[in-house]
Amino acid sequence: MFQSERFFREAWPQISHAFASPTDAASDAEWIVGAVALGAGARVLDAPCGFGRHSIEFARRGHQVTGVDFSETELDRARKAATEARVELRLVCQDIRDMEFPGEFDLAVNLFSSIGYFSDDEDRLVIDRFWRALKPGGVFVLDTRNRDQLVRSLPPEERKRVNGWTVRIENAFDPATSRWRARWWRIKRATAKSKDTGELIGESEIRLYSAHELSAMLRPERWGRVELYGGLDGTPFSLDAARLVLVARK
Ligand SMILES: C[S@@+](CC[C@H](N)C(=O)[O-])C[C@H]1O[C@@H](n2cnc3c(N)ncnc32)[C@H](O)[C@@H]1O
Repeated sequence: MFQSERFFREAWPQISHAFASPTDAASDAEWIVGAVALGAGARVLDAPCGFGRHSIEFARRGHQVTGVDFSETELDRARKAATEARVELRLVCQDIRDMEFPGEFDLAVNLFSSIGYFSDDEDRLVIDRFWRALKPGGVFVLDTRNRDQLVRSLPPEERKRVNGWTVRIENAFDPATSRWRARWWRIKRATAKSKDTGELIGESEIRLYSAHELSAMLRPERWGRVELYGGLDGTPFSLDAARLVLVARK
C-alpha cells in the first residue's frame, strides 16, 4: 500500500470526471504532438491513463496508444470512451511501478500530477521505467504541479461541484517533506456556502518536486535534451507557473 492507494482506488473514481477535463486533454495532446514533432502512427504510452482522456486524443490523431492504470473502474471508462470515439486503445491494468516495456514507444507521457505517489526512490524508479519504455530518440513528457508556485498559493480549503454534490478539499503542505496532503469530503447539499463539513471520502498525499529535483531525478546524462515549460501549452516555466512540464528526448 502506498499513501494514496486507497484514495485512488475508492475516492478518485467518484470525482475524476469533475477534475480531469476531456476538453483540456484535447488541447494538451495537440500541443504535445506538435512540440515533440510526433511522426504519423507513432507508438504512445500514457501512464497512468485514468479514464483515457489523453489516450483517446492521441488515438484520434492516428497514434497507437497503450494506456496503463491500476484502477479497473477508470480503465472500464476508458474502454467505453474509446468505443464511443471509435478508436482502439491497448489498456493494461498494472501498477506503474511494475511497467516493463523495453524500447517500444516514440512518446511516453505522465500527465496531471501523476508522479510523487511513492517514496522518492520509487518515484525515481518509475521515471526509469519510462526511460526504458522509449525507443532511442523517443520523448518523455511529464506534467505536474509546480511545487514552488503551490507553496505560495495553496488555499487551505477548496470546494468543487460534482454531479449535484460538492467536494470539499482540506489542503496542507508540509515544508519539511514537500508532501501535499489533502482530505476530501463529500457534502450532500450542493451549495458551496453550506456550513456542513461533509463526510470524509478519502485522503491523498503527493510528494511535490521542484524543477531542479525532478530534472535531477530524470538522470540528465541519460537524455539528449531536457526542456522545461510552465504548462502543456508551451508557457515558459517560472516560479509563478501553475504547472511544471518536462520534455526529455532519449
Ligand atoms: C490524477 S489521475 C491522472 C490520470 C490521467 N493521467 C489524466 O490526466 O486524466 C491519477 C491516476 O493514477 C492512477 N494511479 C494511482 N496510483 C497508481 C499506481 N500505483 N499504478 C497505476 N496507476 C495508478 C489512478 O487510478 C488515477 O487514474
